[in-house]
Amino acid sequence: MIKSNGINKINIAVFISGTGSNFKNLIKDSKKKNAKYRVCLVVSNHIKAKGLDYASRAKIKKKIIDYSNLRSSEKIILKYLKKNKIQIICLAGFMKILSKNFIDNFVGKILNIHPSLLPKYKGLNTHQRAIKNKEKYSGCSVHLVNSKLDSGKIILQKKVKINKKDTPKSLAKKVLKQEHILYPKALVKVLSSL
Ligand code: GRF
Repeated sequence: MIKSNGINKINIAVFISGTGSNFKNLIKDSKKKNAKYRVCLVVSNHIKAKGLDYASRAKIKKKIIDYSNLRSSEKIILKYLKKNKIQIICLAGFMKILSKNFIDNFVGKILNIHPSLLPKYKGLNTHQRAIKNKEKYSGCSVHLVNSKLDSGKIILQKKVKINKKDTPKSLAKKVLKQEHILYPKALVKVLSSL
């Protein structure tokens, strides 16, 4: 059973590779009164990830890993997570696939946000594919991470209507807006079930 730390907050780490708007949003949500978690650490495989600026501003620890060797990179990350007493990991635009060994260290405790209504459109270019297939709806999903890509248990989803005029860019923008609402909700749901 997972125990929250001293003042009843769960320590989370967010993994990013780029813009980090979901990371920024989780930081914001964690500052709310009665928040059940605190963002302690950000891990990035990219030193120039824009999202790292949010960590600097919020004085959140950063760990940059070049990932040239998956095994040793994950070993370093796991050690760092342990050192910082991280209990939950939120992937938010993290473009590396975690190994089974890594996931086995955090079973049921790694979340990911994906810009489609899973199980539809796993992987990349989700908006482009949804529009091409003339879908009426797309959306976003927060799910637990297992060793198969975008396939773990779904925690929450939000539908977004696709209009005739939508482009992958406009749809991405609409979906991202919903992601920022969905991720904190899904995280709280997971935390309440621990
Ligand atoms: C989001 O669309 C998320 O669903 C996907 O990658 C994007 C990350 O955006 N996994 P951001 O870096 O959080 O702005």
